[in-house]
Amino acid sequence: MKRPDFTRTLIAPSVLAADFANVGAECRAAAEAGADWLHLDVMDGHFVDNISFGSGICEAVDKVTDLPSDVHLMITRPDHYLARFLPFASNITIHVEADCNVGATLARIREAGCGAGISLRPGTSFRLIEPYLDQIDLVLIMTVEPGFGGQAFMPEMLQKIQAAAAARSERELAYHIEVDGGIYAEQARICIEAGANIIVSGTGVFGQPDRRTAIAALRGGEG
Ligand code: DX5
Ligand code: ZN
Repeated sequence: MKRPDFTRTLIAPSVLAADFANVGAECRAAAEAGADWLHLDVMDGHFVDNISFGSGICEAVDKVTDLPSDVHLMITRPDHYLARFLPFASNITIHVEADCNVGATLARIREAGCGAGISLRPGTSFRLIEPYLDQIDLVLIMTVEPGFGGQAFMPEMLQKIQAAAAARSERELAYHIEVDGGIYAEQARICIEAGANIIVSGTGVFGQPDRRTAIAALRGGEG
């Protein structure tokens, strides 16, 4: 299998920060402004203290651009709802803290031909995801407490990015390292330096008047 290029930075705007009355136009604008993936934050009001949207919005977003849909399930039972999201996702990320058989659920994601990701809350030790690193395509390091956009980046999470990069090279594994929460150009820069290659940003893209400049800045460019 060809090893993905983990040195290329990909920008994944989070639709959570888009104008929900104009989601299609917002996603098309993000694609035209240079986004690589679209990140979809699904919240069930149980796993996190917020309800965002479900598979209907994922289906609609998946249709409006050619960009891969990067679905982040912040839900208690990803195993139960998985089949509803699979047709509209290029990657599906579940949380290690979810109430399900994590290994079996990751295996089902891959068997369906979708990229499998694992994520962890800021308070969860990196050691908890170590057993799954050989069966995933992506590690999503939360850099805020999951549940809401617009929170402040937690610099302590840089250690987890480094741990994910170290485990990948020591064990000769192959997964992207994605970061999510409170990320603008400066935070993106330090995350990339620590080993991340996929940058999720909600407010840092959809909350900005000029999305092209915002995406270029996240990538480390001038705009
Ligand atoms: C938080 C979500 C994030 C969030 C990022 O639970 O997983 O994707 O939308 O939003 P910003 O970039 O605004 O922190
Ligand atoms: Zn997310």
